[in-house]
Order: sequence, then structure tokens, then C-alpha cells
Amino acid sequence: MLYKILKPLLFRLDAERAHNLVSGLLRATSATPLLSVLRAIYSYDDPILATECAGLRMANPIGLAAGFDKRAALIGPMAALGFGHVEVGTVTARPQPGNPRPRLFRLPEDGALINRLGFNSPGMVAVARRLRDQRPTANDRLTTNRTATSLVVGPSSLVVGVNIGKNRTTPLERAAEDYLAAFVALAAQADYVTVNISSPNTPGLRLLHERAALEQLLGELAALNRRLGRPRPIFLKISPDETPAQIEEVVQAGCAAAIAGFVATNTTLSREGLHSPLAAETGGLSGRPLRERSLGTIAQLRRLTDGRVPIIGVGGVASAEDAYAHIRSGASLVQLYTGLIYEGPDLIYRIKRGLADLLRRDGFRSIAEAVGTIRS
Ligand code: FNR
Repeated sequence: MLYKILKPLLFRLDAERAHNLVSGLLRATSATPLLSVLRAIYSYDDPILATECAGLRMANPIGLAAGFDKRAALIGPMAALGFGHVEVGTVTARPQPGNPRPRLFRLPEDGALINRLGFNSPGMVAVARRLRDQRPTANDRLTTNRTATSLVVGPSSLVVGVNIGKNRTTPLERAAEDYLAAFVALAAQADYVTVNISSPNTPGLRLLHERAALEQLLGELAALNRRLGRPRPIFLKISPDETPAQIEEVVQAGCAAAIAGFVATNTTLSREGLHSPLAAETGGLSGRPLRERSLGTIAQLRRLTDGRVPIIGVGGVASAEDAYAHIRSGASLVQLYTGLIYEGPDLIYRIKRGLADLLRRDGFRSIAEAVGTIRS
């Protein structure tokens, strides 16, 4: 409701300024009673939505995709808005400013965004500190379930993942050093870690989809992970623009390193079928035009892994039906970003309620039962 009033005003601002303004407003609620008000407005819990993925238990399968909260500044507010998990980042080893502005564009005709932010990040030290400071506060306490240490914010727990990437100035052949450093700094503060090799805005990054390079990177991360008292599930975030043969290689490398799962997908370089005058802007395209590509990648991952490796689906989710399509294609969890910009925070509530209805309509008793039930 509030977003209906706010949206036309926000859409008159440059997209990144609008994002920063909303982030600032959300952050300002953190230490105030407003957070409880938000929680009361957006609360929707239904046992049919409670789920587990890679040993992490969540109140619902809907998560905030990486890129919205790059600094780990919005975890409390995002929990209050009803997400079951939040993926912070991408965080780079060293701080970096990202690309020059403007670097984020709305394509309302297409329900899409193009971004070329280029991993603007305060760096791993600052984010690790923020995560440490933020999680156990007066109202929020750390609880330990079987494998996860989750932030408890009010009645439901929030799983926090951290997405890591490499600095722009690090040569590709030394990329592993950045990932390993970021993993060491951040893994202990996270419930899971996502290795991002799929942003189109860091030159050469997507070459890490190549099998030998990927196997080495994931192998080194797995070795480090084993040295943690409590190893964290490691996910690999992949691009929607790979050929079927490349995806097969990625799956082989991922399985060889026994990763916990895949996040599919990042933004696309494709511009197929767009109507917006801004379609030619450089960067990664997200939102509605990405949906089918992401679904295709999820279905392929599911086939290649025989459903044995969990998938977090992301790309073009803007309704309960979209989230359900991700789940039925093979996703155990579903993340979103662009839908939030166009629909506002009510979307989280609407997806959860609609998803519960769709599951019951089709005779499923849980999310897990519905995962991968459409074979393509
Ligand atoms: C992103 N995305 C992203 N992904 C990632 O792994 N690290 C990042 O830093 C970012 N940054 C980022 C910024 C902006 C402005 C957008 C729109 C997206 C990609 C995001 O997590 C997601 O994979 C895609 O946006 C597809 O989902 P939606 O937006 O279609 O729901």
C-alpha cells in the first residue's frame, strides 16, 4: 500500500539513488519500534512453507537475492519483511567503488533492470565486522540448530548467506586468492557461502565456469571449509548464458568438490525480446525477460544432478506462480531482486500466501514434495 504511493516518486529518481534512499529508510528502522510494526504488517507464517536446504532450516523458501544488500546493512529489516533468507554481497576481498555512474537502469516496459555496478563493495573486513556486530543484538539471539547458526528475529529465524567475488584488479589467474581470503574472513559469520563466478560486470569472471579452473577453485575452498569447526554449505552461482556443454562441466566440477548446491542464475547478457529504449545499456539484465532462461538452467541442473544437489532458483520471480515454477523446475529455495523494485515489499507476503495455496491445490504437503515435479 505504502509502496503504491512511494513508487512513482522513487521512479522519478535515478535508479541507484532510489535504491540508496530506500536502503537508508529501511536501515533507519533497524534500531526502532518501527521494525516490529513492519514485522507485524508483513508477517505470514504457514507450516507448509517451512523448509530445509543443505541442512539450513527456514520459515519459508523465499530469499533476497545478492546485490540488494551488498554491505550487510539490511538484515533485520529484510527479516521483518518476511524473507526466509538473505544473501548478502557480493563482497570482494578489498574495498572497491565499482563502475562509474550511471550504472543501474530501469526498463519498466520489460519488467526488468540492467545493472553494471561492477561489485561496489566495502570489502570483506567491513562486512565481516557488520555481520558480527549486527547478528546478536538485544532482540535477536543466535540459535544453533543441527548445522546452522541462524539469526532469530522475532518469531521466525533468518538464514544469512554471504556471496563472495573477486576484485576487478586481481588478474584472473590469481582469482582464487581473493575468494579464499573472502571465505576466511566471512564464512564464520555466515550460514552459507555463495561463490559468485557469474557477474557479467567483472571482466573475465565468467571464464571461471571452465572446468579445470573451477575445479581448482572449488577444491581449494572445500579444503579450507573442512578446517572450520563447522563447515558451511558452499553454493556456486552460475550464469544463464552458458551452453549446455558448459553447464555440464560446471556440474562435474561442482560435484567433484562436493559443493552444497547451485544458485541459478545471475543476470544475462541477452537482450532478446526487449521493448525498452534502454535495452542497449551495457550490463546484466534481470527481471521478467530472464525468467525462462533461469528456469531452463534450473531444469538442466536438476537433470544433470538427478535431483541430488539442491538448487536456489533466481531470475524473473514477480509472483507466487513464478516462484512455484522455479520450485517445480527444481529449485528448493527461490530468491528475488528485480520483482521487489516493481512490486514492493508486499510481493514477499503475496508470494508466500500464493505459494501455500498452490501447494495445497496440487496436493503437496511441503515445498520439498513439489521440487522438480515438472520435467522438461
Ligand atoms: C544483482 N545481482 C547480483 N548477483 C550477485 O551474485 N552479486 C551481486 O553483487 C549482484 N548485484 C546485483 C545488482 C543489481 C542491481 C541487480 C538487479 C542484480 C543478480 C541478482 O542476485 C539475481 O541473480 C538477478 O538479478 C536475477 O534475479 P531477479 O532480479 O530477476 O529477481
